[in-house]
Amino acid sequence: MSSTKRTTTRTDRQSVRALGAAAVLLATLGGVLVMGGCRGDRFEGRPRQFFPDMDDSPKFKPQTKTELFEDGRAMRRPVDGTVAFSAYSRTDAGDRAHLLREDDAFYRGVNAQGEYIAMIPPSVKVDAKLLTRGQERYNIYCAVCHNYDGHGKGMVGEQWSYPLPNFHDGKYKHGYTETVEDPQTKAKKTVEGKTGKDGYIFSVARNGVENGAKMPGYGHALSFEDTWAIVAYIRVLQATEDGKLNIDVPADKRGDVQKLIDEAKRKWEEAQRAAEAEAARKAAEAAQKKQQNTTPEKQP
Ligand code: HEC
Repeated sequence: MSSTKRTTTRTDRQSVRALGAAAVLLATLGGVLVMGGCRGDRFEGRPRQFFPDMDDSPKFKPQTKTELFEDGRAMRRPVDGTVAFSAYSRTDAGDRAHLLREDDAFYRGVNAQGEYIAMIPPSVKVDAKLLTRGQERYNIYCAVCHNYDGHGKGMVGEQWSYPLPNFHDGKYKHGYTETVEDPQTKAKKTVEGKTGKDGYIFSVARNGVENGAKMPGYGHALSFEDTWAIVAYIRVLQATEDGKLNIDVPADKRGDVQKLIDEAKRKWEEAQRAAEAEAARKAAEAAQKKQQNTTPEKQP
């Protein structure tokens, strides 16, 4: 009795399920019919656009036609005399000379003859603010290779396949001269070497080393002022190793600086003595070990 009842119930459920499935199928079919012609389907009519303004925004594509202008071209030429406005320059729009980058010394580090200028141009005010800025920029962009002290042994510089130049080398200092030979007369003469000039260091910082050598330029990341600030800071780094107390330090600061020098000397000598003592201790230890190893062990 109970088993018959169960069978009936199951049949009822099955028919309900069948009905449900048929309904879902119908709905899907209907959906497909309605949606026919969407992207990816073959359809004879115009594609349906649910958000037409996103498909066809009101703009001109390059090389297209328009009725708007007499010549029918959508692409327009810039107004005569338009000058590209760089993102990396000062934005004083009224300054025509600046926008045209007319000042060779400031923008390229060269004079009218195209030679590198010896000193930072007078339009750049070298003061404590500029030097601090130069230190910050140098530490960001140059120190990885040239190191914080300019000796060329930065984290990346040390891994380089050849030793990086040392900014404390005479050839990178003001007044550096070199002897060159005239290719025709073979006569030798002394000229001011370019590597010692501010304009050259400026140019290398912005454009990299000439003749396809391995240093990349940082002009994309440095404003012109910042590049001069870096040049000024490299001069400061050089002065840290060959500055003259009686010349480079104002009279009222000489006492303080002398104290710092004496203190640094004392520390250096201390460190030197400690290193010597440590080396002697290690040598004695090694000698003792060697003796122990050579002395035959007593057999019990
Ligand atoms: C990715 C490493 C790297 C960075 C960063 C780098 N340099 Fe150099 N720099 C070099 C290498 C390598 C050389 C040697 C190039 C050569 O002559 O082959 C060099 C050479 C130089 C020279 C000497 C050029 C010569 O003709 O003797 C100057 C000056 C210089 N760099 C300045 C800078 C300044 C300023 C910065 C920061 C704006 C900077 N460098 C950042 C790798 C670097």
